[in-house]
Parts: sequence; structure tokens; C-alpha cells
Amino acid sequence: MKVAVLGAAGGIGQALALLLKTQLPADSKLSLYDIAPVTPGVAVDLSHIPTAVEVKGFAGQDPSPALEGADVVLISAGVARKPGMDRSDLFNINAGIVRNLVEKCAATCPNALIGIITNPVNTTVAIAAEVLKAAGVYDKNRLFGITTLDVIRSETFVAEAKGLNVADVTVNVIGGHSGVTILPLLSQIEGVSFTDEEVAALTTRIQNAGTEVVEAKAGGGSATLSMGQAACRFGLALVRGLQGEENVVECAYVDGGSEHAEFFAQPILLGKKGVEKVLAYGDVSEFEANARDAMLDTLKADIKLGVEFVK
Ligand SMILES: NC(=O)c1ccc[n+]([C@@H]2O[C@H](COP(=O)([O-])OP(=O)(O)OC[C@H]3O[C@@H](n4cnc5c(N)ncnc54)[C@H](O)[C@@H]3O)[C@@H](O)[C@H]2O)c1
Repeated sequence: MKVAVLGAAGGIGQALALLLKTQLPADSKLSLYDIAPVTPGVAVDLSHIPTAVEVKGFAGQDPSPALEGADVVLISAGVARKPGMDRSDLFNINAGIVRNLVEKCAATCPNALIGIITNPVNTTVAIAAEVLKAAGVYDKNRLFGITTLDVIRSETFVAEAKGLNVADVTVNVIGGHSGVTILPLLSQIEGVSFTDEEVAALTTRIQNAGTEVVEAKAGGGSATLSMGQAACRFGLALVRGLQGEENVVECAYVDGGSEHAEFFAQPILLGKKGVEKVLAYGDVSEFEANARDAMLDTLKADIKLGVEFVK
């Protein structure tokens, strides 16, 4: 397996690269690319860790050498939020970065699974899809918006609130990846019950958890370490699916034929071709049904912005 990380010198990219270096299956290749000149040095640094994962680093304007033969490409290149910004404020800079990088993926590794971390994910995934369509290589089963951070936050906060072992807690998070479009399905968690007030408070905390980090870092960036872990969990799930492991299920933001929107985050079964099957997200409470319906205008507008940007 060859996994490429684009944006690899950044806060997320370095954390993700470290975790992949220690957790990818033996004999995998890890390819790091960033415009920052330090990137080959990041690869040298990681190469001293004794695992059977070969690491190479590439800097400069052209990501193509890093993408050759890639099975999985994880993109975190771009700018991150500062206090007072929401994810949509990142659009002007990050939209062009994602467009250019995905154009290179289409030319160099058209069959790779592409996971987008760069915000605003609701929109950058739509941009990636349009670029791949224009290049004639779009396969909806191979493109993912990585929403795993919303999942791990939900699992952590629920375990904390209810005194559970976090390893036993699984939470599906549906919708998108910003503000009201993030919807944790708390009603489905086995063996746990919440009051209406608890559901409202926990849902709001999960939706705003990114801002909690942005404010705590006070101008120093947004979530990087927890996002590195989230992207590693998702990237490894992609690899496990490609290698034929069964029952690999994660939530992600995909073009999965949802009745709600062109792209929608929900549980998916991963396999040798990427998305093996989009799974039903199951029964939801009245609160969740209302929140889902209320998010759709926002989500659809975010998607339209991406489509129009490319067109
Ligand atoms: N999906 C999520 O849940 C989630 C969570 C947190 C952050 N993010 C997003 O991830 C992105 C990266 O965050 P970060 O904290 O790592 O930021 P960062 O500023 O630390 O790193 C970004 C890296 O991208 C590189 N870069 C910029 N333009 C590039 C290009 N054209 N080609 C290659 N590399 C390029 C920069 O040199 C830098 O090293 C941001 O858009 C942020 O909003 C997503």
C-alpha cells in the first residue's frame, strides 16, 4: 500500500504522518508532500523510527512525484482557522489549493482513494468531485470527506459524560462537517440514555468542538493532533478495506445517493474499491430528524458553492 499525505509539513500532516509511520501495515510506503521546503526533512526525521514503512518526502510546486502509484491520498493542505473564523472563511484560499492538488491526483493516480481533510469539507469535497469529473476519472466510491474527528469527539464526550469506557462507545455522525451540519446520533448509542437537555447540550458541544480548540490555541491554529488521529483511523480503514478485510465501517462524507443531499456523511462499508456499500444510518429520534431536516439548506448551499467554483 502506498499512502500519500498532501500538506504533510502542517500541523495535521505531521501528526498524521507520524501515526501512519507507526501503524501502516509492514511494507507500506508513505509519501509526504507539502510546498514547505522542510518536507523532505520531515520524512528523514520519520525514517529513523524503526518500522517497516518506507517514507519519502517531496517539496516544491509539483506533487506528482509523491502521487505516483498511490493507493490512498489524504489531503490536509491549506490554511487553518484562527479565532473568530468559521470554516467557510477558509474557502477562498483552500478551494484553489484542493482544486489544483486533485487535478494532479486525476493525472497521476486516477484510481487512488482520495480523503479530503482540508476545510470547508462540505465544499472542498464537491470541488474535488467536479475536478475529477472534468478529468473524466470520477468514481464516487473513491472520494471521501473525512468527518472522523466528529466521530471521535462524540465518542470521547459521550464516554466522559456517562462514565463509560470510550473503547466501548460507537457513535454515528451524519450530515456534513461544519456547525449545524454535524449531527451525532446520540439516540442510537446502546445502553445509554440522555435527557432532552443533555442531548441538546452534547450535540451543540460536538458541533462547536473545533471552535473550542481554535479558541484554546488562541491564534495558534485549529485541531491538529486529534485530527491527525482521526485521519489516521480513517486512512487505515481505507487501507484495510483495500486489502480485503471485511466489515470495515466508518462514517464519511460521500456521494452516496443520499435522499438528503448530493454529499452526505453516514456509515459506509469500505472494501477493495473504496465504498463497498452506503449503509442506512438507522432510526433517529424526533430531535435528530428535525436537526437533519434543518441542516439541509446549509449543506446544499455549501455543496453548490463548490460545484460553482469549479464550473
Ligand atoms: N476535516 C477536519 O475535521 C479538519 C479538522 C481540523 C482541520 N482541518 C483543516 O485541515 C487543514 C490543515 O490544517 P492544519 O492545522 O494542518 O494547517 P497548517 O497550516 O498547520 O498546515 C497546512 C499545510 O498545508 C501546506 N500547504 C499550503 N498550500 C499547499 C499546497 N498548495 N500544496 C501542498 N501543501 C500546501 C502548508 O505549507 C502547511 O504545511 C485546514 O484547512 C483545516 O481547516 C480539517
